[in-house]
Amino acid sequence: MIKTDVQHVKNFIDDKEFKSALQNAENAYQQVVDGTGPGSEWLGWRRILASPNDAELEEISRYANKIREDADLFIVCGIGGSYTGAMAVIKALNPVFKNKGPEILYAGHHMSSKYLSELIEYLNEPKANGEKKSVYLNVISKSGSTLETALAFRMLRSWIHDNYDDAKERIIATTGPEGGVLNKIIKEEGYKKYIIPDDVGGRFSVLTPVGLLPIAVAGIDIQTLFYGAVSVFEKEKTDRSDVLEYAAARCVLHNNDFAVDVIGTFDPELNGFIAWIQQLIGESEGKEGKGLYPAMAGYSTDLHSVGQLVQEGRRNIVETLLVVDKPFSSLKVNEGDERDTDQLNYLAGKSFHEINRSALEGTIQAHTEGGVPVIKIVLDKLNTQQLGELIYFYELFTAVYVYMLEVNPFNQPGVESYKKEMYRLLGKNS
Ligand code: PA5
Repeated sequence: MIKTDVQHVKNFIDDKEFKSALQNAENAYQQVVDGTGPGSEWLGWRRILASPNDAELEEISRYANKIREDADLFIVCGIGGSYTGAMAVIKALNPVFKNKGPEILYAGHHMSSKYLSELIEYLNEPKANGEKKSVYLNVISKSGSTLETALAFRMLRSWIHDNYDDAKERIIATTGPEGGVLNKIIKEEGYKKYIIPDDVGGRFSVLTPVGLLPIAVAGIDIQTLFYGAVSVFEKEKTDRSDVLEYAAARCVLHNNDFAVDVIGTFDPELNGFIAWIQQLIGESEGKEGKGLYPAMAGYSTDLHSVGQLVQEGRRNIVETLLVVDKPFSSLKVNEGDERDTDQLNYLAGKSFHEINRSALEGTIQAHTEGGVPVIKIVLDKLNTQQLGELIYFYELFTAVYVYMLEVNPFNQPGVESYKKEMYRLLGKNS
């Protein structure tokens, strides 16, 4: 279960303002439910939870299992909403060092020549037993024309066709229902295709085949993930106070000239999830001169870096901490020698979770005393069900909060500006 804790914000905001923001949050929620807000043609991320397509979930699981049996490497080729969701869930749930099943790699999320050339070199390297690696490629692009993804796909697709007789079975394309260059390629080549529904935007698409196929290939149970999201969708009908309080608190802070939201966690497994949240909120709210910049922090690592600025820098920072309540492991500090040479015997027998928790509580205390309001988003446990819950919690929060700012959460007109300049420099014919 996901819980919001805004008690460390209360000293920074006026109670009356917060109460009125809570009412605005409820109104914004009703706009989402009734489809009366701007961009209401993009509410498919709720529709898919209202009537789950179990047949599709099963088909994706089956297909992913087939890939898992054969693949050494599975490349997810996409950018923005077309890859961050999958990466977030996979990084959170898979073992840190050694995964069973195929290694999941990412491409098409930038245009680094070093990265792509080294990736191709890596694909070319035989396995320890001298055999060729078995590589599968999932290109994901709703528009089918995003340059970063399209270029990587061109290079990797050629590599796959040059290396395997069954190349067509190794390429899976996830894209919009029709139109666009990618659909043309799929038709010509006969690649397997998964559809991103028209009414689901990129950053809200993790629970469509965009995220579900890579997540299933990584060995994660997508039914549990999906139904975790469904459980919050159902609960929200009668109990949505956690989403509304979060939206109200962030909106009041926004309206009181805070400018940066440092979104952090003391559980590094969730760093990828924070990247997903950053994209989800940032691309949704940053319009018409509005929005809090969603910065990412991985604590306690970053307490030795940007922590200084959070504590004592310009006072326009809000902090949102993603907290996992129950320990993932019971690892305890071992007994040191009697001389206590490293002076850590006072911690002997204490669990790492407890120590990390003290770092969290100490940080909240220090940061709030330093003038930083802190919002806590608390997961009971880090597991597949709760990540599904968290995904929908954040999707709903984003829609409600951004409606409170009176902008359309579902478009991204500003992204076109860099593309226009880049294409001009590259001499692209429009
Ligand atoms: O949220 C969004 O819509 C964007 O971040 C897109 O996902 C991103 O730009 C990739 O677009 P596409 O899937 O069309 O390649």
